[in-house]
Amino acid sequence: MTDNPIHLETRAHEGVKIFSPTANRNKSPIFEALNPYLPNGVKVLEIASGTGEHAHYVCTQRPDIVWQPTDPDAQSRESQNAWRAGIEAQMLSSHDLDVMRTGWAQAYLSYSALYCANMIHIAPLEALIGLIAGAKEILSKGQILALYGPFLEGDKTAASNLEFDKTLSSKNPDWGVRDLTVVKHMFADAGFNVKTRIEMPRENRLLIFENVS
Ligand SMILES: C[S@@+](CC[C@H](N)C(=O)[O-])C[C@H]1O[C@@H](n2cnc3c(N)ncnc32)[C@H](O)[C@@H]1O
Repeated sequence: MTDNPIHLETRAHEGVKIFSPTANRNKSPIFEALNPYLPNGVKVLEIASGTGEHAHYVCTQRPDIVWQPTDPDAQSRESQNAWRAGIEAQMLSSHDLDVMRTGWAQAYLSYSALYCANMIHIAPLEALIGLIAGAKEILSKGQILALYGPFLEGDKTAASNLEFDKTLSSKNPDWGVRDLTVVKHMFADAGFNVKTRIEMPRENRLLIFENVS
């Protein structure tokens, strides 16, 4: 891994296709929790798709939906494209998307749901700010953004997430597990309410934010 890692795990490679042990473990529980919030035929824009395994898994479970994977990292995009094999009409060719780029959302106004897993803690706070700003532009009233990952939750924060926060900030002072209350306030300022908060394995959460404005 380089000095500026985009993940903190050991991954297997098969050509350009990358296998994340974490994504392999959490893809099914994430799908089960997310599935009820994906309307029939929905077009989903995924931010920070990493290896592409979440995109691939959801598409294989839900043949009715269209999924756009993205990532600013070229190696990740190559892996996402390798995971498309056999489901190319549904899982679209990966896009180079950095949510810290001003105006990024303009190209995605036809999407009606957003999904982002494990990005906001391993990127500067500006990535969360950019994600929310883009979601406000893309999503209409009643549409959702699903956000998955660990959070700080005051004195209820899991010890493993406190440890993870320390590890992240030792690697990069701009990174860290985000405070759920702060994240909720940031979304609320943009017109989003928490529709559901789902407890996931290993002290992760899936938050469904709904545009109510
Ligand atoms: C830990 S990986 C998570 C990948 C995948 N979502 C998952 O859960 O397996 C974090 C990803 O966030 C991406 N990322 C980091 N900063 C970003 C930004 N500003 N905009 C979009 N993606 C970003 C990285 O390139 C990386 O692929």
